[in-house]
Amino acid sequence: MSDPFRLDGRTVIVTGASRGIGAATARAIAARGGKVVLVARSEAPLRAIADELPTPSAVVAGDVADTQVIGDAITAGEELGGLWGLVNNAGINPHYQPVSATPLSAWDEVLQVNLLGAAAFARAMALYLSEAGEGGRIINISSIGGLTGLPNIGAYNASKAALDGLTRSLAVELGPEGILCNSIAPGTITTEMVDDLMAANPALKEKLVAKAPLGRLGSVDEAAGPIVFLLTDAAAFITGQTIVVDGGRLAAG
Ligand SMILES: NC(=O)c1ccc[n+]([C@@H]2O[C@H](COP(=O)([O-])OP(=O)(O)OC[C@H]3O[C@@H](n4cnc5c(N)ncnc54)[C@H](OP(=O)(O)O)[C@@H]3O)[C@@H](O)[C@H]2O)c1
Repeated sequence: MSDPFRLDGRTVIVTGASRGIGAATARAIAARGGKVVLVARSEAPLRAIADELPTPSAVVAGDVADTQVIGDAITAGEELGGLWGLVNNAGINPHYQPVSATPLSAWDEVLQVNLLGAAAFARAMALYLSEAGEGGRIINISSIGGLTGLPNIGAYNASKAALDGLTRSLAVELGPEGILCNSIAPGTITTEMVDDLMAANPALKEKLVAKAPLGRLGSVDEAAGPIVFLLTDAAAFITGQTIVVDGGRLAAG
């Protein structure tokens, strides 16, 4: 019997794969035998990661909100033997201020990538997987910010709550075709995104760690593990869920 935790021969698009959680996810997929289409705007780091992977891969450099980039990623997946999954991971969180001080242009900027880019990628993948008729997986990377009232990142939180809504709709619409859709909602994971937020608010790290039952922030590998699990046959009866990966932060209130 084949190992239900493996991804041998399966190809997955990972957006935001040039660093952080996306890069760790690409590496974890390849370590389990999967092939990866790596997407982000910066080509050089994508190529460097692709070169290290033990399985075949492809690089598509561009913006997730660009339909040409989405089409190129699907084509690259077809060229690798056909697509199984999408990890909608690309995201930004560049503003740290109360909602009342956040200009509407900042909402546009954040929603364009975190919600519209992800929705457009999910739409293209849903069409592809339906046509292929062999099931598949769509994983949206949301955030605990979409589930609780974290201050000063209102547009980001709204984008992530909306992603979880998208996840549930896709799960209901695509379930009959064997296409499963889930969200992973990370807590605070040490990446460039979080380093930038901490730089804007030096007291933040201490506050976050103080509230964490595990007493520390998460690593990119700890975020990637559950993402990869949801892509495998071991997760074949899970759909429409938002799985929180936060070291117990939400449970602590
Ligand atoms: N780190 C955390 O604590 C945390 C917590 C909850 C949720 N998340 C979510 O997890 C995901 C990954 O976060 P991270 O911390 O790993 O962030 P990160 O280190 O800043 O990486 C973000 C990735 O997204 C890519 N990206 C950004 N905008 C893009 C665009 N318009 N088109 C294509 N690619 C784009 C970046 O590459 P380029 O700049 O080269 O395009 C990069 O590869 C995000 O959706 C984030 O909201 C993170």
